[in-house]
Amino acid sequence: MIRDGHRWASDLLEGVPVPMLAVDGRARTIGANRAAVALFGGGDLLNRPFVTVLRHPAVVEAVDWVLDPDHHPAPLPDPMAGPAQVDGVVRLSAAVVADGRDIAADITVARLPSALGRGATIAVLDRSVTEEAEQMRRDFVANVSHELKTPLTAMIGFIETLRGPARDDAKARDRFLDIMAREAARMNRLVSDLLSLSRVQAEERRRPAGRVDLPLLLRGVLATMDQAAREAGVAVETQGIAGSQPVPGDPDQLVQVFQNLIENAIKYGGSGGYLGVSMRRIDHEPLLRGPAWAVEIRDKGEGIEGMHIPRLTERFYRVDTHRSRAQGGTGLGLAIVKHIVNRHRGRLRIDSAKGQGSSFTVILPEGVSRG
Ligand SMILES: Nc1ncnc2c1ncn2[C@@H]1O[C@H](COP(=O)(O)OP(=O)(O)OP(=O)(O)O)[C@@H](O)[C@H]1O
Ligand SMILES: [Mg+2]
Repeated sequence: MIRDGHRWASDLLEGVPVPMLAVDGRARTIGANRAAVALFGGGDLLNRPFVTVLRHPAVVEAVDWVLDPDHHPAPLPDPMAGPAQVDGVVRLSAAVVADGRDIAADITVARLPSALGRGATIAVLDRSVTEEAEQMRRDFVANVSHELKTPLTAMIGFIETLRGPARDDAKARDRFLDIMAREAARMNRLVSDLLSLSRVQAEERRRPAGRVDLPLLLRGVLATMDQAAREAGVAVETQGIAGSQPVPGDPDQLVQVFQNLIENAIKYGGSGGYLGVSMRRIDHEPLLRGPAWAVEIRDKGEGIEGMHIPRLTERFYRVDTHRSRAQGGTGLGLAIVKHIVNRHRGRLRIDSAKGQGSSFTVILPEGVSRG
C-alpha cells in the first residue's frame, strides 16, 4: 500500500514537463501534475478510478498489466508505437478524449519503483500540436509546388508550340517569348519571396539592432511607387512624414513592409483613386505597453470582407487568386510583412470592410524594450 498523504505523488510528477498521472495498486489516481490537470481539465483528478480519467481500453489494459502482470494479459504490440512493452514499461499511441477534445497521444505506462509501493505512472504526450505543425508543413510544400508548377506548365507548353506549330511564325514567337519571360519572372519572384520569408523567420527572435529614420524611409518608398500610383490614377495624401524621426528597426526590412502595403493599396485598392500614408505617435499603445509609432496605409478601394481578414497574413492566402496572379502577386507579401513586424515586436492591424476601403496599420515600439 502506498504511503498516505498523496500530495507527494503530485509533487514528484511536477518535475516532469509532460502531463502525467500516478495510480495506486487499485488503479485509483493518487497524483497528477499541473500539465495533466490542464490537459484533462478536471477540477479534481485525484482519488478516482483511473478509467474515469482516461477511458481508453488499450490504456486501461496497459495499466492493469503494469500493476499486476501475473493476472492480466500482456499488451499487444502497437504498430505505431513499436514493441508493446520493454522491462515493464508500456508505450502506445492512442486517440484519447481529454477534456472533451480528441487528441492523438503517445502514452507511456510504467511501474512505480517498488520502494514507493504498488502503483504506476501514466505519461500522456499530446501529439496534436506537432501533428498540426506537420500538416502545415505539408500544406506549405504542396502550395509551393503548385505555385511553381503553374508557370512551369505554361512555359513547357509554349516551348512545345515554338518547336512545332509556331516554328516559323515570327509574330507568335515574339508573343510567346513575352509570356514566357513573364512566367519566368514570376517564378523568380516567388523564389525570392520564399527565401526572404525564410530569412525573416530565421531571425525573428533577434531584434533589429539599428535605427531608421522612419519618415525619410516612407518618403523613399513613396518615391519608388510614384509612377505606379500615377498610372493607377491614385492621388497620394501624406501626413506626419515630412520631418525626421529615428525609430529602432531594420531599414531593408521596413522598406519591404511599406513597399508591399503601398503596392497592395495601389493594386487592390486603387479603384478608389486614393492612397493615404500617415505616421503618428501613440503615447501609450496598450498592446505594446508603451509609446509607439503608428504608420497607416489607407485606400478607398473595394475593401476586404471580414472573413478574409484574419487569414490575409497566411502564406499564399489571396482573396482573389486569379487577380493576384494576373498582377504577378505571390500571396507571400503580407506573410513577410507580419514576420518582419513581429521581429520588431510591433503589431499589424488590418481594418477593412467590403466597399469601404482598407487600412493597414504598422505599430512599432518607440523604444528598445526588453523581450
Ligand atoms: N489594400 C487592399 N485592398 C484589398 N485587398 C487587399 C489589399 N491588400 C491586400 N489585399 C488582399 O490580400 C491578399 C494578400 O496580399 P499579399 O500582399 O500577401 O499578396 P499579393 O499582393 O497577392 O502578392 P505579393 O505581395 O507577393 O505581390 C491579396 O491577394 C489581396 O487579395
Ligand atoms: Mg502584396
